[in-house]
Amino acid sequence: MDKLMIEGGQRLKGTIQVSGAKNSAVALIPAAILAKDTVTIDQLPNISDVQTLSELLEEIGGTVQLEGDALTVDSSQMVSMPLPNGRVKKLRASYYLMGAMLGRFKKAVIGLPGGCNLGPRPIDQHIKGFEALGAEITNEQGAIYLRAEELVGARIYLDVVSVGATINIMLAAVRAKGKTVIENAAKEPEIIDVATLLTSMGAKIKGAGTDVIRIEGVQELHGCRHSIIPDRIEAGTFMAAAAAMGDQVLIDNVIPQHVESLTAKLREMGIQVEIGDDQMMISNSGDPFKKIDVKTLVYPGFPTDLQQPLTSLLTQADGTSMVTDTIYTSRFKHVDELRRMGADIKVEGSSSIIHGPVTLQGARVRATDLRAGAALVIAGLMADGVTEVTGVEHIDRGYSLLVEKLKGIGAKIWRKDLDTREQEQVIT
Ligand code: EPU
Repeated sequence: MDKLMIEGGQRLKGTIQVSGAKNSAVALIPAAILAKDTVTIDQLPNISDVQTLSELLEEIGGTVQLEGDALTVDSSQMVSMPLPNGRVKKLRASYYLMGAMLGRFKKAVIGLPGGCNLGPRPIDQHIKGFEALGAEITNEQGAIYLRAEELVGARIYLDVVSVGATINIMLAAVRAKGKTVIENAAKEPEIIDVATLLTSMGAKIKGAGTDVIRIEGVQELHGCRHSIIPDRIEAGTFMAAAAAMGDQVLIDNVIPQHVESLTAKLREMGIQVEIGDDQMMISNSGDPFKKIDVKTLVYPGFPTDLQQPLTSLLTQADGTSMVTDTIYTSRFKHVDELRRMGADIKVEGSSSIIHGPVTLQGARVRATDLRAGAALVIAGLMADGVTEVTGVEHIDRGYSLLVEKLKGIGAKIWRKDLDTREQEQVIT
């Protein structure tokens, strides 16, 4: 097992490439189950979540081939194999197997999802949607059992705006009899991406990207080829890294509209952001940043996934900044680690309060979840001396070739084997 080593203080310059969106990929791969033949997905990020999902499709009889960044899934021989344990618990997004298998086989058994530890992450809205479509659902020994005689379209109002529930209900409803309406649906770009794939497979979906999605069920879905949208959270992470240490960093393969909320906040901090068609140029003038307040909201508001990376940047802002997370109110495990590096931050309720500017010092820190890992890498790029980040498996779940990409713009970052003491800490 590895850790990341970062020697801080290096200026960053050049072009950094954004990969396909993780949070699309983890829904698009299960969506392939719904086709009666072959689906090819292009622009896949090279991340361990993609690997795990591909193996899960193989477990249920699929043939999966990865060539470069294209994944081809042949679903013709798939069966409704129960997946109560094992790989399915390694990633949160395995909940999309529920919607996809329910849609295709009218039954599924899926172990309750694992993944990043961000505090409580209920799936009650997913279950409410499946039940409305006619499924009977039980929870037996940590696995969800879903069965339906037939799926029938329904009107479903989401009590909480949820990306996962919106996509999962879409996956089941495209094969239900008649019309489904999802009200108070989430509007994230990844939802439009999944709807685009399903439409190419023959599904009838209107309104994806708005808060009312209408689906007319069809009897059969066929194969197709689909290219994933750029990862707005990876792009946002690179924007924060470039803002921290960049002398003109060009971020390539980004949809600027998808990162508008971050662009606005960076500009408010005094960072220069230039926008092209699918590129953005970020420069740090060397002056201290202006303090800002940020509140995370559902899309198109400021994303919860970028509040942690932004917090690292705010340690360099002049004065007191406040970051409030309204989506995951306990997503603050990065704060203790940033404090080890000398940051002056405290958590109050669902907010972190950051006093700056401070000079960060390299330290041994631990990534407790994916975006906490990104925050620590950004802090490491800014710190004096060397920062060691353990918990790299979280970062590998969601960032494609992060070390290589950052090295490409001048960062001093490398992987190193964990020593025996650190390995023992991982096992216990
Ligand atoms: N919620 C409920 N009930 C539900 C579902 C959600 O109460 O049935 C609550 C959650 O607890 C949370 C809010 O609704 O407070 C929003 O959760 P959502 O369902 O939108 O989250 P998710 O679909 O589980 C996805 C991303 C997360 C990202 C959130 C932002 C995937 C696989 N994951 O999670 O990504 O933070 O949307 O809403 O798409 C990450 O990439 O690091 C990551 C954690």
